Amino acid sequence: MPKSFYVTTPIFYVNDAPHIGHAYTEVAADVITRWHRQRGDSSFLLTGTDEHGEKVLRTALGNNTDPKAWTDRLVKDSWLPLLETIDVDNQDFIRTTEERHKVAVQKFLKQLLDAGHIYQGSFEGNYCVGCEEYKNESDLIDGSGEFEGQRVCAIHSKPVEQLNENNYFFKLSHFQDRLLEHYEKNPTFVQPESARNEVVSFVRSGLSDLSISRSKERFDWGIDIPWDTSHITYVWFDALLNYITAIGYGTDEEKLHSLWPADVQVVGKDILRFHAVIWPAMLMAAGMEPPKQVFGHGWLLVGGEKMSKSKLTGIAPNEITDVFGSDAFRYYFMKAIGFGSDGSFSWEDLSARYTAELANGFGNLASRTVAMVARYFDSDIPQANEYQPADKQVQEVAAQAVSGAEAAMDRVAIHEAIASTWKLVDELNNYITTQEPWVLAKEESTRERLGTVLYTSIEGLRVLAVLLAPVMPKACEKLWAAIGSALGELSNQSISEAGVWGQLTAGTKISELEALFPRVEEK
Ligand code: MSP
Repeated sequence: MPKSFYVTTPIFYVNDAPHIGHAYTEVAADVITRWHRQRGDSSFLLTGTDEHGEKVLRTALGNNTDPKAWTDRLVKDSWLPLLETIDVDNQDFIRTTEERHKVAVQKFLKQLLDAGHIYQGSFEGNYCVGCEEYKNESDLIDGSGEFEGQRVCAIHSKPVEQLNENNYFFKLSHFQDRLLEHYEKNPTFVQPESARNEVVSFVRSGLSDLSISRSKERFDWGIDIPWDTSHITYVWFDALLNYITAIGYGTDEEKLHSLWPADVQVVGKDILRFHAVIWPAMLMAAGMEPPKQVFGHGWLLVGGEKMSKSKLTGIAPNEITDVFGSDAFRYYFMKAIGFGSDGSFSWEDLSARYTAELANGFGNLASRTVAMVARYFDSDIPQANEYQPADKQVQEVAAQAVSGAEAAMDRVAIHEAIASTWKLVDELNNYITTQEPWVLAKEESTRERLGTVLYTSIEGLRVLAVLLAPVMPKACEKLWAAIGSALGELSNQSISEAGVWGQLTAGTKISELEALFPRVEEK
């Protein structure tokens, strides 16, 4: 089996319903996956849910139910529907409570034990249940409000718990040099650069071994340690393994090798260390390759803090998609926030961009071009005649939009890829304004010129439909159905070939196009 381009999202804690911060991670990973598919690679997106551990257990009990019933309900009612809401095309969805996962986690643990990477010991430390992680003193800040006078987790603003445990440890410290060597030899393993620097200096400062089990005396919502059933597996150790348990680790070597190593693992910066330090070390211990890249994106902020349900600042994704649609959601978050940086969401900014960039920019360009071909050429794509400098400039901008977007996506700079594509949207709008096809249409003597101008415009739209399909699949499918179906399915149009001019054939009928981004009533 040839290797597919494999992209993953973190698996989400099912302690609550998703907010737009979670949707942001999903959309980014989906855009990357669709981009590679549109480029001609076979690509595979894995997402799923992280269902074990104290945090999920406490939430379930707090809601007067057991964790199995709680997670089943939340996955069915909230997490799977999220994928529809934001139009994510995932190839698999893994739940850590599934049998295929449990069996493979136990196999992995056994493999590490047999290879001498696991030992028994005791540990004392400050545990944050929100992060499901032991915290160093430097990770804590002074609490405020009801926690005034206490030290609290910097991410969750809640006090940590003092834990003293006797459990199994993974010899993470043994991998310090190998990790540093890996970062050195693979400069794009952790991206963006700021994330890489943070990880390298963290590892340089020294690694402690990692407690990977919890005694059942405390709680038992987890996967049994296979050789000692009085312990369950630490939730992060269990969760990280989803990336390989879903694709055949321990059961289907052929499938595993057709996907692993993952090409891009998308994670929020809060969970970067787990993915860029612990995870590659676990893989090295099992004799497997680390992923090719871990990309740490920024946070959606509210009032300067990470948006979160627990702080009551979460916005449900469908509040936005119900008004603006999934394409606008995807476009907005991918374009307005540099991928890798933090960003703030505001209804005003979204609404302004929807009107200016989507409705008036791209949508109107498509409607008026299609309408003019219908009106002046009876819906037949016109013949391009002699190209003048203005037409050639459009062709050049189109080719540059493609190569610029490809180069940006190779760096996972999603916002730059869209910005590069948008140069063509602006160029085409400007071209139509200056060429005034409606004036050319008045005289028979300028009919040939009218044909060239409209052919140029509609070819430009073809390029846009292909380049923007990974970001706005629904709008681009509609546009393609109107102008491009004679060339085959949109999904078969390769991005790399998109900039080759002259693919639409004169004389081909186009069909009507409904508004791609209809006016939104003030709410
Ligand atoms: N279950 C762990 C991940 C295990 S992966 C082996 C977890 N889950 S989470 O539900 O808390 O977060 C999942 C993802 O959502 C993370 O990448 C996190 O960064 C992202 N986000 C949660 N809130 C966010 C924002 N406000 N903004 C952007 N991303 C956010 O961590």
